[in-house]
Amino acid sequence: MLAAGLGAEVVIYQALFDHVLTRSDAERAHHAGFRAIRAARPVTRWRRTPGEPVQALGLTFPNVLGLAAGFDKNAVGVDALAALGFGHVEVGTVTGEPQPGNDRPRLFRLTADRAVVNRMGFNNDGAEVVARRLAARSRRRSAGTRGRPVLGVNIGKSKVVPEDEAVRDYEKSARLLAPHADYLVVNVSSPNTPGLRNLQAVEKLEPILTAVQRIAALDDRRVPLLVKIAPDLADDDVLGVADLALAIGLDGIIATNTTISRDGLRTAPAEVERVGAGGLSGPPLTARALEVMRLLRDRVGPGPTLVGVGGITTPADARARLDAGATLLQGYTGFIYGGPLWPRRIVQGVS
Ligand code: FNR
Repeated sequence: MLAAGLGAEVVIYQALFDHVLTRSDAERAHHAGFRAIRAARPVTRWRRTPGEPVQALGLTFPNVLGLAAGFDKNAVGVDALAALGFGHVEVGTVTGEPQPGNDRPRLFRLTADRAVVNRMGFNNDGAEVVARRLAARSRRRSAGTRGRPVLGVNIGKSKVVPEDEAVRDYEKSARLLAPHADYLVVNVSSPNTPGLRNLQAVEKLEPILTAVQRIAALDDRRVPLLVKIAPDLADDDVLGVADLALAIGLDGIIATNTTISRDGLRTAPAEVERVGAGGLSGPPLTARALEVMRLLRDRVGPGPTLVGVGGITTPADARARLDAGATLLQGYTGFIYGGPLWPRRIVQGVS
């Protein structure tokens, strides 16, 4: 059914993936699934990248769909993930300092909603280690050519760094990581680092973005810079970020991150309560993320690159996001529930 027309190994792979997905602890299932994806690369790497190329950010994206930040926080499986059919992979969030993230459990599935709640808290190896890892992978100068994935690097503020020193922390990450990135993303929208989302206020955001922009102007090329925003911003604040992006010549906006809202869930309130704080992703986010995309495209006009993410689950969701003005798409939760064939299904569904 799902795997009709595909090789037997893919059917087995899907079965394995489904099996690990059903394991109780969501974070352990994530690591097991990710290990399986990396182990399967000798098989998956030979598959042709689905879809049509997209020109954006001065790069050639092999197709319209990327893997959103948070899945490969430490850049350990970029090519294995791309081999599943993603045209780009955004690694991170990477912070200036290595950090363990919040206490476990910190990742939960709300299966009745095909949604996820996470309060990971930017667990990552830190910019120095990730930069070394990316250097070893040998950066692809001509990203996108011959089906190579475009590599995005998403950076965020270290928890130990106070808010008024955020610029310095973003600068540190940018300096280390820009040379290895095809594009950079300033993440100011995770709900799991206290105070981070305050940085979305235009007067705090501008110095961060302009500082990173300066660093992203490397000797041999300019690394495109985007900002990733929360769906919980009021419409006026979304428009404020759009205006700032235009004013400082930002390359694009990624909309959206996870939401702190718990409205409209099918999951029993007691279960939602038990899971507790964190960012919600998946279908409950679809409507707001679509609305934010419409607002943004309307405001910025045709030029800037807008990346649509949040609750994209079916090809129809993907199509709607493109129709609302998205240049590129990303997904995370749809992939968790849809399995390793999900990226191909979405890409082929909109081609
Ligand atoms: C995320 N997301 C995320 N975003 C980001 O910019 N940096 C990060 O480190 C993370 N980490 C992370 C962990 C987990 C477990 C999830 C589920 C999500 C947010 C993600 O990139 C995306 O914006 C949202 O999940 C919405 O898209 P989906 O999941 O509805 O397709």
